[in-house]
Amino acid sequence: MAASAPGKLILFGEHAVVFGEPALSTAINLRTEVFARPHTEWRADGGSFDEPRYRYVKEGLGSSAAVTVAALGAVAELEGRDLNPPVIARQAFEVEHEVQGRASPIDTTTATAGGGILVRKEAANGLLWTIGRDTRRWFLHECALPPLTLVVGNTGIGAATGPLVAGVKERVDRSPEAAEQVREIGRLTLDGLAALQRKDLEEAGRLMDRNHAILNELGVGHPMLEKLVAAARPHSFGAKLTGAGGGGSMFALTDRPEKVARSIREAGGKAFLVTSEAQGLRRLP
Ligand code: PMV
Repeated sequence: MAASAPGKLILFGEHAVVFGEPALSTAINLRTEVFARPHTEWRADGGSFDEPRYRYVKEGLGSSAAVTVAALGAVAELEGRDLNPPVIARQAFEVEHEVQGRASPIDTTTATAGGGILVRKEAANGLLWTIGRDTRRWFLHECALPPLTLVVGNTGIGAATGPLVAGVKERVDRSPEAAEQVREIGRLTLDGLAALQRKDLEEAGRLMDRNHAILNELGVGHPMLEKLVAAARPHSFGAKLTGAGGGGSMFALTDRPEKVARSIREAGGKAFLVTSEAQGLRRLP
């Protein structure tokens, strides 16, 4: 049995979403496939399932969520169950929470549902499902986005999400300024969504730049991310880190993707063009 799930880009709101603020992501046309067959014991790639790297595969864009979701899908099929998106999205969130120590459900819901996903503090049009943990509850919505040309720049520097998320929590717990910065990210996420939906890419880009600056102030930047963002911006509406930060990837919103990709490569990053992906978790023949 096999299932596949897409990777994702967080367009606005990473880190703030862990505190319940709004965030916006899109599934992208890079997918993970997981194959499963019956066996007397649980194994991964033919070897032990206990190796840390199988807690989820931690590299690339939302690949941890895509691997988790596709694996849950393949196992559900193996056990003769239907692919039930809300159930898989909740199970996958629990996995991420367990591995990272703290998480929001944005990655796992995007990998499950595909398309544009908006996380909000309350229910609105397009509600897919809600996911709760401790005192927090997230309302996950599908959300129509115009076709976007996005260039991703990968720094090649790996950084684990868990410690970065914990670092932001520490700052927010001790500094009212950091807590306000998290709230500002929530506000500019909703403004950014409105700008994208009215196709005001210049305004959306400005808000992405601002979101990036706040993420730096929250301590999740990296010099290599700055280098790639600086290389992309002269030919872009805006550019920001995406996901946990501390290395990892950035993206640019642009109408000159080839030029941006070249600049990112010249600055030492890996660059690739991505488009939004409508399809979430799916069964493979
Ligand atoms: O870099 P990623 O794909 O692990 O994205 C993390 C997104 C955070 O907002 C930082 C954490 C989360 O669980 O939402």
